[in-house]
Amino acid sequence: MAIDDYWFKNAVIYCLNVATYMDCNGDGIGDFEGLSRRFDYLAALGVTCVWLQPFCCSPNRDNGYDISDYYGVTPRFGTSGDFVECMNTAQALGLRVVVDLVANHTSIDHPWFQAARADRKSPYRDWYVWADRRPRNHAQGTVFPPVQKTTWTRDRKAGQYYFHRFYDHQADLNTWNQAYREELYKIMGYWLQLGVSGFRMDAVPFLVEKKGANVKPAKDFALLQEMRRFLQWRARDAILLAEANVPANESMHYFGDEGDRLQMMLNFPVNQRLYYAFATHDPKPLKRALRDTIANIPRDAQWVQFLRSHDELDLGRLTEEQRAKVFQVFAPDATMQLYNRGIRRRLAPMLGNDRRRLELAYSLLFSLPGTPMIQYGDEIGMGEDLSLNEREATRTPMQWTGEPHGGFTSAKKSVLPVVDGGIFGYQKVNVNAQRRDPNSFMNWITRLIRVRKECMEISWGECEVIDCDADPVLVLVYRFRKAAMLSLHNFSDVAQSLHLKVRDKGGGRLIDLIGSEHSRAGPRGIHEIALDGYGYRWFRIGAVDETLSRAPY
Ligand code: GLC
Ligand code: CA
Repeated sequence: MAIDDYWFKNAVIYCLNVATYMDCNGDGIGDFEGLSRRFDYLAALGVTCVWLQPFCCSPNRDNGYDISDYYGVTPRFGTSGDFVECMNTAQALGLRVVVDLVANHTSIDHPWFQAARADRKSPYRDWYVWADRRPRNHAQGTVFPPVQKTTWTRDRKAGQYYFHRFYDHQADLNTWNQAYREELYKIMGYWLQLGVSGFRMDAVPFLVEKKGANVKPAKDFALLQEMRRFLQWRARDAILLAEANVPANESMHYFGDEGDRLQMMLNFPVNQRLYYAFATHDPKPLKRALRDTIANIPRDAQWVQFLRSHDELDLGRLTEEQRAKVFQVFAPDATMQLYNRGIRRRLAPMLGNDRRRLELAYSLLFSLPGTPMIQYGDEIGMGEDLSLNEREATRTPMQWTGEPHGGFTSAKKSVLPVVDGGIFGYQKVNVNAQRRDPNSFMNWITRLIRVRKECMEISWGECEVIDCDADPVLVLVYRFRKAAMLSLHNFSDVAQSLHLKVRDKGGGRLIDLIGSEHSRAGPRGIHEIALDGYGYRWFRIGAVDETLSRAPY
């Protein structure tokens, strides 16, 4: 396989919702035209792939994840024509677009559900999951406790209960129904034909599950294989990126042993332990999660690493004790917590807006084995609005300028309020101001992305977690063909010094890729490396020429 064939391995993904990115027609809601005008910003930042959150027709009771027509775009954002214009602009700038595929459930407003509930004999009846009586375990397994209290809700018209993993307005589809599967492929084919480079697949563990009252638990992973086969037949370089918050040892079911299911998965095991390490300065559980996730990945697949997403920061897989420690540091107030397991805050406020810690976090994001994903607004250090409902706290509009509504809209009222005033208000935190300041966080990230793109070892290579003589430091080594790299991250606020023996056929030098403090090996080939409190270093191993930014792959 040629090195650049798998574009997703060296991609920089950026996640955004059209609704809150840029409003062009002044109605207070972001739109495709506004987004089109901001693609140049994203390309200049170094982003190569934009993940668009749901933009199909929807009553919008869950941020668009409640779809009522998979083939139409919501008029709130514009027309299908505007979408295609938007795709054209992205393409012209070399940006790929990946879109959400919400295949696990529809809105109860969807005509399929309406037909299903109206008539037991409707072919759509079996597209959903029904029961005459409410199963005894109906209060278990809801994804949004305690907001959503049951997974089975009675529909009067249907005369039965329907199953829903998420909110009661999101009826679960029976993904084992063959006719539904065929429709699903049609949906995929439709968006591929319009130029998308793949799908971020929503809620995959639920998608493959056998659903119903009193059914024996079963999972049909062949569905993922079928979807992949269809995808690759229609568009050879398109990808499937899974949202599957499962333990590391289950991930191979999603990737497939042969790499024949999903190419990418969001790395939840690492994400949760990352916050544990930020909170406690102890990277041990993180190291384990890294080792476990690296071990469980087929050659052609890739993890997507992320710091924050549009959802709550889900800490559900930490031990209770670990979670309590993270809550104590990052969400001491009950209003900051959500669904008994997560945190509804943005990155910058959690890290106390401390530049050293923010740089540490992003240096990690871009050097963890996998493809980095940025949540819109995190590149300028936006904050949250805890007065908003549930996960909306972190979904406020993008802050472009110091003008009213942060330059997001010229309307009097915007779709969600822009963060106004204080340390994180648009007056202080906005793209315009950071663009003009060479030391801004945004310009720092832009430079880091540039370095990252020249480090194929991280995206293509084998990564190894190395133990060292400084406990709060995470050391990773990456090897790809003839090149090798090293990254070090200090989770503690106290400076560290550590000793590393580096196998190296070159002149015993480590070339500093971010600063210019190269390291020369001491006796017996041992390097002594110093790290400031929350410090980070990236080195290329064995380069003979320090002007050589690109490794000899
Ligand atoms: C996924 C999405 C989340 C949504 C849910 C239901 O978890 O990330 O935002 O609410 O699916 O579709
Ligand atoms: Ca608009």
